[in-house]
Amino acid sequence: MWTLIALRPLSLLLLLLLQPLQLKILIQYAPMSEEEVEHFEDYLEEMYSTGPTLPPTKDVFKSRTIIYSRRPLTDSNYCTDEIKTKNVHNRFRCVKEHFFLQTSFEELQDICNNLFVSCKNGVKRCHRSKRLIKGVYCNLTRGVVMTDCVYESSYRQGYVLMTCRWQDDIQEIIPAYINDIIETSDVIKEKPVLQGYF
Ligand SMILES: *[C@@H]1O[C@H](CO)[C@@H](O)[C@H](O)[C@H]1NC(C)=O
Repeated sequence: MWTLIALRPLSLLLLLLLQPLQLKILIQYAPMSEEEVEHFEDYLEEMYSTGPTLPPTKDVFKSRTIIYSRRPLTDSNYCTDEIKTKNVHNRFRCVKEHFFLQTSFEELQDICNNLFVSCKNGVKRCHRSKRLIKGVYCNLTRGVVMTDCVYESSYRQGYVLMTCRWQDDIQEIIPAYINDIIETSDVIKEKPVLQGYF
């Protein structure tokens, strides 16, 4: 079994098929740098974590985030209307922020394979799009529960920062939350390691 480790990068690919405990043991023996181990652990956490609130499923994420309508993204009522139409809420309470994106679900899902970068709040487990994406940023200005939620809408074009997670029943890695749309990619340093193992 331990001879697997000699066969990098094939061994890393095989590691991904194992259970978390087996992985923990294997990591101790794998010839990885400290930095590689850290990012590999980030990756594992993303794959296996279960938070207190359930993140949206693939279908819910799609219907809440992807823009299908032809409505202009610069419309000042965009968020207030679309958040109602698309049923965006957190157990019927108004969400504080939301992003609508003009792209395909598949493009966003691909971004999950990009390197880890820092999110806007300093948490490091975000992924960033490689191309500019258009969208609308919604910021709650009034209201507490659904249908009373009023938002400020801002058109944004930039690099999308988002978190991803593993959805077990469909066996796919999917976008979880959009963290930000940033205008420049200069400030963010990528941390190479797991690129290319999918
Ligand atoms: C969102 O709104 C809050 C309060 O209404 C404001 O303090 C904050 O700066 C806004 N955020 C952005 C990114 O516009």
